[in-house]
Order: sequence, then structure tokens, then C-alpha cells
Amino acid sequence: MRMVDIIEKKRDGIELAKEEIQFFVNGYTNGSIPDYQVSALTMAIFFKGMTENERADLTMAMVESGDQIDLKKIEGIKVDKHSTGGVGDTTTLVLGPLVAAVGVPVAKMSGRGLGHTGGTIDKLEAVEGFHVEIENEEFIKLVNENKIAVIGQSGNLTPADKKLYALRDVTATVDSIPLIASSIMSKKIAAGADAIVLDVKTGAGAFMKTLEDSKELASAMVRIGNNVGRNTMAVISDMSQPLGFAIGNALEVKEAIDTLKGEGPEDLTELCLTLGSHMVVLAKKAATVEEAREKLQQVINDGSALETFKTFLSSQGGDASVVDQPEKMPQAKYQFELEAKEDGFVSEIVADEIGTAAMLLGAGRATKESTIDLAVGLMLRKKIGDEVKRGDSLVTIYSNFEDVSEVKEKLYANIMLTSEKVSAPVLIHGEIT
Ligand code: URA
Ligand code: CA
Repeated sequence: MRMVDIIEKKRDGIELAKEEIQFFVNGYTNGSIPDYQVSALTMAIFFKGMTENERADLTMAMVESGDQIDLKKIEGIKVDKHSTGGVGDTTTLVLGPLVAAVGVPVAKMSGRGLGHTGGTIDKLEAVEGFHVEIENEEFIKLVNENKIAVIGQSGNLTPADKKLYALRDVTATVDSIPLIASSIMSKKIAAGADAIVLDVKTGAGAFMKTLEDSKELASAMVRIGNNVGRNTMAVISDMSQPLGFAIGNALEVKEAIDTLKGEGPEDLTELCLTLGSHMVVLAKKAATVEEAREKLQQVINDGSALETFKTFLSSQGGDASVVDQPEKMPQAKYQFELEAKEDGFVSEIVADEIGTAAMLLGAGRATKESTIDLAVGLMLRKKIGDEVKRGDSLVTIYSNFEDVSEVKEKLYANIMLTSEKVSAPVLIHGEIT
């Protein structure tokens, strides 16, 4: 087989065979096919697209390019959730203990974050002593006992995707729905998911800015999952403003605790109940989403979701007393209020810019090498649609330095007020099965 023939075939819009896809994925991973040929192929894919068969074959070729996590020793259907990323997205922290409390096994492999705030592991490290450096056997034992554990990312998961993504990044071929969909799905499948719930974000703070693109990406991923034998569904959720109030690591852990107590922000709570219900159904712990939702509501009301969170933290070395005393987590030295300069209604909170403001405080990483400050971040005091009086706080800024003028400037530029009444945005834009 020759790579040049594969490029030519795709250039001319002819469907590639499974063997051809495996050939280029394997050759690229082991270094026998050079960057320039793969660049030409990804550009051809960008223009010509991929058929459903090609997408499934590409996904599985990437899964098979590296380690695959074997979760067979964990009882039950392992359902994973994936979010296409947003700002202040605390759903993973809430959903893990929430669905575990109704018996869904949560075997989470997680990484560190790049951008606005840390990843799930960074956030959990705001809890003294918590660590994810556990052996595979211990991980499996913990999931069987507590229904939830988190382990650090294996070094050799989907190496083909790592190389391809880095190449796409510098060849203007990231924005291709078949390539994005197979990239995301390959990572979930390699991590051992039997079933997958996708949270595809839409709006200003999301990867996909329009509802149409978000739906197309969601349906591409759902079809890949179902075509390769993993029950998959997607929820399209709003990211026209940050989710919940907290953006920052310790602040988000506190927000997750509040939500598990039933005292969290309305939008975060609703999204967690929606995604959680689908996870419970895919795990076959309830027959319908209505029944699943009732079960989730029950474990919030009777405190067992919160108990599950405590057990999870202490099983991995964490000080679970932070659940009752969140002030034990890292605290910022200073708090400043961003005061409204006029009366009105909040009409816009540009999510990704607000995320950048949190990063300026040190809540996220600008590069892989940066260290993050777990204590700092932002608490939104108003959301889109809220009425504001001059002098009201729009945001509380938690900082470890005194001069936050740059952060304030960024926030003022990205929180818009108008004189007319504004309605709150719709949270759930649709579901795709
Ligand atoms: N996220 C991924 O994991 N892969 C892509 O291709 C794009 C976003
Ligand atoms: Ca949040």
C-alpha cells in the first residue's frame, strides 16, 4: 500500500477502505509516514469529508494505536461522560458522586487542564491529600467498593490522536467534524467506556459557536459510538454564558459540594440531573429518564450523594472534612467586587473571555508548564436576564495579588447590560440519540 494513493483517493472523493485507514494511522504513529503526507490527507478530509464507515474505522484505528484500558473486572455497565468543554463547567465533579450514589460505576480517567481552569484532577487537588497516582488494581477495587474512583491519564492512550491533533493544529485542519468526532470518541473508547453520554456545548464560550454545528458534531459522535458498539447519546447544552457561578478550582469544588447538597446554582443542577439521568439509563439502573431523575433527586435529598463524595475523597487520600468545612481548601488573600456602573439587565456574559479573566488571576494554565493557583477565581453574582442596580456586585474576584485592574477591565468589557428586560437563555437545546 502507498500513502500517495490513499491521499489521491480521498482527494477525488472516494471512500477509503478500513485497511487503508489502518495503514495511515499505524504508519503515522510509528513514524514511517511523514507529516507532509498526513497533512495532505487531513486537508483532503477537510474538504471531502468522511463517510460513516470511514469515521468508525478511523476511530477504532486510533483506539488500537495505543493502550486500551480494561475495565472488565468492574461490575456493571461503565458509562462515561464527555463534555466538549466550556467555562466554569463543574459537571464532572458533581456527576461522578451523583450517579455513583445510585449504583452506576464511575471509573474515571482524567487529565490536567489547559486554559481557563484546571482539569478535574487539578480541581480535586484543592482537597488536601487527594491524589490520583493509584495502581490499576487499586483503581478497580475502589470502583467496585465505592462505585467511583479517578485515576491519572495513562501515558500511551491513543498516541495516533495525539500526533494527529498536534498536526491538525498547525495545518488549519482542526475544524473538521469527522476529525473532531473521531478524535474525541477514540479517547473515550480507549479509556474503557461501554456507553457514553456526550455534553456538546453550544454558544460563545463553546468550541462550536452555532446550534447547527453543535448538532452536527453531536450526531457525528453519536453515530460513531453506536456504530462501534458503544451505546451513545448527546445533550446539547448552552455555553453562551459560564455554567453555574464559580470559575476557579477550589471555588468549583465548593460549588460541586453545594450542588450535591441540593443547594447549587439552578443551571448547573439542571444540567447535572439531565446528563445524570441519561447515564443512569445507559447503565440500566433505571428504565426511563423520569425514573432515573427521581433516583438522582432522592440521593441528593437523603444525603447519600454527598456521602459518596466524602468516601471517594478519603479513599484517595483526601481530607473529606472539607465537605463540611470548605474553608479548609486554599483561600485567596483578597476579594474584590466588580460593581455595576449603571442600572439594567444583564444581556451578555462572554464565557470564553470570562474564562480568560480567571486565567489572568492564575486559575488556569496558559501553557502546559504553568502552575495554577487553586485558590483564585471568579464568582458570578449575576447571570443573563438578572436585573442589576448601579453598585451591585456583578462578580466577586478572588485573587492572591492586589492589583486586579486588568482583570476588572476584561470583565467590564465582557459583561453587557441593557435597559430592556432580557430573558435567561435556554439551557438544554436538544438531545440526539
Ligand atoms: N477536542 C479533541 O479532543 N479533538 C479534536 O479534534 C477537537 C477537540
Ligand atoms: Ca461553575
